[in-house]
Amino acid sequence: MTNAAIIKESMEYSRIQVEPVAGSLGAEITGIDLANDLDDGTIAEIRAAWLENLVVFFRDQNITPTQHIAFAKRFGDIAEDPVNDGLDEFPEIVPVIKLEHETTNIGDIWHSDTAYVETPPMGAILCARELPPVGGDTLFANMYAAYDTLSDSMKEILSGLVGVNSSAKPDVILTRKARVKNKRQEEAEPLINEHPVVRTHPETGRKILYVNFGHTLRFRGMSDEESAPILNYLFRHQVKAEFTCRFHWQPGSIAFWDNRATQHNPVNDYHGYKRVMHRITLAGDQPH
Ligand code: SIN
Repeated sequence: MTNAAIIKESMEYSRIQVEPVAGSLGAEITGIDLANDLDDGTIAEIRAAWLENLVVFFRDQNITPTQHIAFAKRFGDIAEDPVNDGLDEFPEIVPVIKLEHETTNIGDIWHSDTAYVETPPMGAILCARELPPVGGDTLFANMYAAYDTLSDSMKEILSGLVGVNSSAKPDVILTRKARVKNKRQEEAEPLINEHPVVRTHPETGRKILYVNFGHTLRFRGMSDEESAPILNYLFRHQVKAEFTCRFHWQPGSIAFWDNRATQHNPVNDYHGYKRVMHRITLAGDQPH
């Protein structure tokens, strides 16, 4: 269902206000202070808004790392990042940093987080800590819409395919070359896992197109060359402008995305300035 459809059929929220920001996905949640100890009903409404809108945004939140962790734990278990180190004092929080002199930023490519692990994350909660004066927005795309808008014949072809996902596609290695955990990418075997190209969302039951430019190498049983024509089509199709929204960060902004049903791409357009974000990743289950 698109955001436009949700506006028509929107569920009733009594504890929060939910305002969609684009036609396909994304909504801003207001009327809430995440530094507070939230009751179960409020958490349930946030979860419902998150499932409906795929990514939800909060503004003007002044939360400490401890409050960030406490909020994340209300939605699930915190997952360890297989590639990036956590903060010394708060290992659950991964700093996503680009410094003034750097020209690459972590994740600067369309991707869903760590599709190359056996149980990719359910979601992530990203909190802005230091921002450039302009630029550094994050794009999000709706993978339900990407699947729903394929032809029936393409859906039929994809239904039997399994994607091979790797941590070591050259384009993605470039985006994190400044800081990887123990230089894992250079020293260790890449992380590789296979997942269905069309997965079913474990909470909504809807079908999702689950390949991404950052991590998907090929289809199981096919060479890279054989897979490329369909994969390249899907990589273009799944991030069409009409499936996306763009989030402009401000001090105190937080984004919480459903990593199963979305992809994201942080725009690398702020050379010469520092951007510091804190990310907590929530554990997910094996796609099927
Ligand atoms: C990420 O890919 O998790 C980082 C997103 C961002 O920096 O906006």
